[in-house]
Amino acid sequence: MTTNIAVVGAGRMGQVHCRIVAENPRATLAAVVDPFEESGRRVAQQYGAPWYPTLNAAREDVALDGVIIAVPDRLHVGVTVEALQAGLHVLVEKPLADTLEGARAIADAAAEATESKVLVGHVLRHDPRFRSAAKTVAAGAVGEPVHFRAARIVPRSVGFANNGASPIYMYQGIHDIDLVQWISGSPIVRVSATTAAKVLPAASKDGVDVALILAELENGAVGTIEISWVLPESTPSGLASQFDLYGTDGNIKVDVTAEGVSLDTLDEFRLPNTMLDPELDGRLDGVVPQQFDYFLQMVEFDLPSRIGIEEAVSAARVLDAIDESLRTRTWAEVAH
Ligand SMILES: NC(=O)c1ccc[n+]([C@@H]2O[C@H](COP(=O)([O-])OP(=O)(O)OC[C@H]3O[C@@H](n4cnc5c(N)ncnc54)[C@H](O)[C@@H]3O)[C@@H](O)[C@H]2O)c1
Repeated sequence: MTTNIAVVGAGRMGQVHCRIVAENPRATLAAVVDPFEESGRRVAQQYGAPWYPTLNAAREDVALDGVIIAVPDRLHVGVTVEALQAGLHVLVEKPLADTLEGARAIADAAAEATESKVLVGHVLRHDPRFRSAAKTVAAGAVGEPVHFRAARIVPRSVGFANNGASPIYMYQGIHDIDLVQWISGSPIVRVSATTAAKVLPAASKDGVDVALILAELENGAVGTIEISWVLPESTPSGLASQFDLYGTDGNIKVDVTAEGVSLDTLDEFRLPNTMLDPELDGRLDGVVPQQFDYFLQMVEFDLPSRIGIEEAVSAARVLDAIDESLRTRTWAEVAH
């Protein structure tokens, strides 16, 4: 018996999920859902699954156990609530929702759907490096958190493809908002944010290049979250990302720019991806497939989520405060 999964949203991330489900022997890709018939059918065919224009149409035709929701950030709420009301297990991409109101609506639907397992796709919750950092800080090894620095700088193609669909601090920065709150063990209570835009406008794309967020935590620690998509495509690692937390008794640093392997040939120098979703033995490996495997284990063995839904709601609260800070050009309180 395998777990029947529908992937809803056959875009960039949805296609990664389709492949991961299709490659997992404990799951069946039972449906690919996307309103755009041509691209939806193409992806479905590539992974040997039927295509449907809506989740409802898929549910009428195939028996589903769970869904992976990979629609644009601003559309998470409707599909996720529908799936929960249908009694399905749900892996919903981060952010849980684009507004606090939407995140609350999903959390309320999840509370009603007592039989459904819910995992919010904060994929770094499954990365052993960050899990280890969170455990180390929680054990008190660095003492009381004093200050932190979280940076995530990705290639400009990500910003070009996004083209204003989501603000950068929502699409990329939600990872770091969650890392800060999770690893420090304390919610962000105030933010002051600013942005700059040169690369995207020059390419006639919507959105800003970088968001810089000063943040204060409930426990008194302060820090910065720096989110950018200006890396040249040729950057050897494809990512420059760092998380540093300084405490009263020490500090912990997670540098994920290099992943332990470097390749220097006559033509190129590269730092290949070995942790996130490298292709090994012809399959996707690493943290993104591990997230799906954990979701299957939640369904099969009744395991708890690695991220509480209220923690995902809390990250959405911070997004609202960043919006407000950018609008008012001053500090904004997070409505906890
Ligand atoms: N975990 C990560 O590291 C990571 C990385 C990238 C994207 N994401 C998340 O994945 C989600 C999708 O992002 P993306 O970059 O793949 O977007 P995308 O725009 O490439 O794809 C979205 C797809 O959803 C489809 N769609 C729109 N409305 C739909 C509906 N009602 N039902 C079904 N399908 C619908 C679109 O046609 C499109 O194919 C976002 O929430 C994003 O934040 C997560």
